[in-house]
Amino acid sequence: MIYLETPANPTNGLVDIVRCADIARSLADAGGRRPLVAVDNTFLGPLWQRPLLHGADLVVYSLTKYVGGHSDLIAGACLGKEQVVAPVRGMRTILGTISDPHTCWLLMRSLETMKLRMTSAMKNARYVAEFLADHPKVKSVQYLGFLAPGDPQFELYRRQCSSPGSTFSFEIHGGEGEAFRLLNKLQVVKLAVSLGGTETLMEHPATMTHSDIPPARQAEMGITPAMLRISVGVEHPDDIVADLAQALEAV
Ligand SMILES: Cc1ncc(COP(=O)(O)O)c(C=O)c1O
Repeated sequence: MIYLETPANPTNGLVDIVRCADIARSLADAGGRRPLVAVDNTFLGPLWQRPLLHGADLVVYSLTKYVGGHSDLIAGACLGKEQVVAPVRGMRTILGTISDPHTCWLLMRSLETMKLRMTSAMKNARYVAEFLADHPKVKSVQYLGFLAPGDPQFELYRRQCSSPGSTFSFEIHGGEGEAFRLLNKLQVVKLAVSLGGTETLMEHPATMTHSDIPPARQAEMGITPAMLRISVGVEHPDDIVADLAQALEAV
């Protein structure tokens, strides 16, 4: 299997799904078995990126994130053509990873507002990203909406995604100490590892979500001690920006 997470967590690096499908085909043409192409589409969700249209065989979701959207359920989904999904369905039955009725009911509720939530969060994220990009204590912002023409990632973004979404990372000047000081000062934004909920969450990838990756490998992946990841929610954008502004004061 060729397994991709695009955009990648937490750097928002993009991987070309069409190219991966081509590679899978060329392996089959060379006499081998064609590996399946599976895409974790949790970051942009079903609204902003549709991997099956780009040649993926399987799409997987953490429904815990944008689809659930209220930080009150844990679930996952795997989508694809019937014959590709059939073994997954069989394995699910054997493993027993079937959502309980209450979780399913919560998911049905969430689907009604998914477009509204994701659209609102997407608009807020641009506002927050622009605020951060202009802030003197911020070194860089890895927001897909800032990709510029001429950058190969921009061309890929235009082909593959229909919105920058609302989860991105940024680096502040300094290191871990500065990043921790900022996080500890937050009042509206919550310090937690999840993403895609109605509330804005922030976390420190190097010591939280990606803490199991050795520091040298983190550096290769572009994860630095001064990097913070934000999942922008649906609050009033001025509240989010005001909170970040006062927390940045402490850095
Ligand atoms: C991109 C991505 N895929 C998958 C997962 C796993 O999701 P879950 O915790 O719902 O199993 C996460 C977060 O935990 C994620 O950010």
